[in-house]
Amino acid sequence: MLVGVSGGIAAYKACELVRLLVKAGHEVVPLVTPAAEGFVRAATFDALARRSPTQEPYPHLARADLLVVAPCTANTLAKLAHGLADNLVSEAALAHEGPTLVAPAMNPRMWAHPATRANVERLRSRGVELVGPGEGDTAEGEQGVGRMAEPEEILERCTALLRPNNGSLHGKRVLVTAGGTREPLDAVRYVGNRSSGRMGVALAAEARRRGAEVTLLGANLAVPPPPGVEHVDTPTTADLEREALARADADLVLMAAAVADYAPAHASLEKRPKDGEPWRVELRPTRDVLRELSQRRTNGQVLVGFAADTGRRGLERAREKLHAKGVSLIVFNDVGRGDIGFDAAENEVTIVGRDGERRVAKAPKERVAAEIVDEAERLLEGHGRASAH
Ligand code: CTP
Repeated sequence: MLVGVSGGIAAYKACELVRLLVKAGHEVVPLVTPAAEGFVRAATFDALARRSPTQEPYPHLARADLLVVAPCTANTLAKLAHGLADNLVSEAALAHEGPTLVAPAMNPRMWAHPATRANVERLRSRGVELVGPGEGDTAEGEQGVGRMAEPEEILERCTALLRPNNGSLHGKRVLVTAGGTREPLDAVRYVGNRSSGRMGVALAAEARRRGAEVTLLGANLAVPPPPGVEHVDTPTTADLEREALARADADLVLMAAAVADYAPAHASLEKRPKDGEPWRVELRPTRDVLRELSQRRTNGQVLVGFAADTGRRGLERAREKLHAKGVSLIVFNDVGRGDIGFDAAENEVTIVGRDGERRVAKAPKERVAAEIVDEAERLLEGHGRASAH
């Protein structure tokens, strides 16, 4: 993604925007105009984008999925509207072929001027999107509309623009849980499991690729969450339960997380000192989040559970779980094998449905994720047809 920074005091807010974009997993190429350098140096943006300044000879001509100009001054706005190309940002805008998002920032009288109004209209008619400006105090102490939108809002619009609107899951809300929960024993110790979160992260990425609005509840992920999805940290079962139930109305739920079945009955807030005596721990059953979700299930929701178990008996138990937990599909994977499943790059699963089963041969988790989402989509479509009658 290209982030153009033009010369206004709001350039300092663009630092936060770049930081948020990088944190959300985007690769950012900052383009800083000479006027913007008067406020914040290009090296600052390169550092925030984790790039070395000499990475590319023509960074402004890089093919990118999105161009964001923030802040966009009245001068830069006029240049973009008329196709001038006299610095990195205006040249990038002329060469860029994908979506463009502009975050204007200027004095309220400049924003209200008919020349600026006409430039805004011109840009809009070409499909350029604007975010802000908002109302408030400007740097020079005037009141009115001209403040650059907040970095969080710009990030949100970037995410929405990057979501394909022709994907098969466009308009659907997808909730994915990934990783393994850890239940505290004391301030430093926990009861946990070996799940890395790779399968769930691959599912979130796949749903996002298909245009869905994705929330990923991550429990101690060993891999970074994919770009373009909302990521909420849920290290314990209680966290995961709370956040999942808050989103119980999603169209599709993929419960890939290895949620603890038992948690210590008593967790100490301090570290338990060693005293040579045995430490007896009582584990109590946790609430089954999948079951809770299935009880709250709204019409048409597709709910997918995962069963990490061993051997033939494991598959039979997965079939039983489908009915016992009231879910649409259960994805069974054999964790007794070392080459697939937990913490491995590949997986081999059996997708158990109410009207049949499908084995997915050993493949990278990304491929397996695509097969699982295919099955879930088939059920979503089925529901859609059923409710249309
Ligand atoms: N799960 C859940 N909440 C729990 C435990 C599990 O939502 N407290 C979900 C998992 O995310 C997974 C599914 O339930 O999608 C299956 O979990 P698993 O532990 O394999 O099955 P259990 O029902 O706990 O049965 P068992 O441990 O006896 O196999």
